[in-house]
Amino acid sequence: MAFRIQEDISLSSFTTFKTGGCAKYLAQVTTIDELRTALVFAEQKQVPYFVLGSGSNVLGPDSGYAGLIILMQLKGREYHDESEAVVFATFAAGELFDDVIAETVDLGMWGLENLSHIPGTVGATPVQNVGAYGVEVSSLITGLSVFNCQENKIELYTNQHCQFAYRDSCFKRSNQSHLIILGVTFKLSKVAAPQLEYADLAVLRSNTAVALSVVRRTIIAIRSTKFPDWQHVGTAGSFFKNPIISSADSEALVKNFPQLPVYIIDESTVKVSLGFILDKICGLKGCRRGKIHLSEVQALVLIADTGATTTDVILFSKFITDEVKIKTGIDIEQEVTLLM
Ligand code: EPU
Repeated sequence: MAFRIQEDISLSSFTTFKTGGCAKYLAQVTTIDELRTALVFAEQKQVPYFVLGSGSNVLGPDSGYAGLIILMQLKGREYHDESEAVVFATFAAGELFDDVIAETVDLGMWGLENLSHIPGTVGATPVQNVGAYGVEVSSLITGLSVFNCQENKIELYTNQHCQFAYRDSCFKRSNQSHLIILGVTFKLSKVAAPQLEYADLAVLRSNTAVALSVVRRTIIAIRSTKFPDWQHVGTAGSFFKNPIISSADSEALVKNFPQLPVYIIDESTVKVSLGFILDKICGLKGCRRGKIHLSEVQALVLIADTGATTTDVILFSKFITDEVKIKTGIDIEQEVTLLM
């Protein structure tokens, strides 16, 4: 199909929350030439642009977006053996993350399996340093190719350039919006390297030679009990980040709630489980206001019923944020980005 830029397209079809008004313009980009054409179009129209993968971490405003949505659909998968044990896998930004994970598992390459069934595209994974079950993509990414819109050229980024942290990277800074991720390289292992430290994976630890396919299947089974199916329900997985607080503040909480999971970040800060806080401390699991509620299974997951608006989600998020502040003194942050 010839490349064309569509007008007045509802954002609800392009985000897993399924809310939001219309984008003024939308371009589905399958080649770098199309990307360049789309960027020139935005410049000529003097409108902003926003790159969207599969919209699994983005909320579209009800008032719409008065710019160009660039739907990243570059495809491509390449594998380079570095040695008997190590392979570098490079995937184009528009590949679906779980599709490439399925392929690496079929090929016997260890590394990405704990991230199975995370929705979204490959290009989105470095942006918020996607992580689950004890693995973050930052521990596997060796490099990225990036289109620098200011310089109008492709650049190579190393892992260090990305400034990865918990659910964070340089690509989240507003002054980096001229960088468009084109492809990501992951370092994978052809020898067994199971990562089973996460509590939910304890069932697999007694199996000394656990198969890669079994790890993937187990992760998918665990996720299906905790996370609603975003293809049918309006959701973006975890809506908030787990808060990073001072060790002193966490000690005060743990005194009253000894079961609170606490993960050490450095000598003075820790990450605490917001799912536990929302559920056991604030009693908000399953809490509903109109068309929005927190999941009855995993309190960190916010669910929007059919017909909900982005404004409903934002108001509910503010209510939850205020409740947590009142009950624990902790300021929580959204993981989900509001398109602006
Ligand atoms: N918990 C509760 N009640 C709840 C939810 C959780 O008590 O309603 C407790 C659990 O029992 C557990 C702890 O809180 O002891 C942590 O819960 P869990 O292991 O389910 O993980 P999480 O910290 O809530 C994070 C990621 C998820 C990822 C899981 C599994 C963030 C913001 N979320 O959730 O990522 O899948 O770990 O590794 O870091 C996502 O980002 O969209 C996402 C789904």
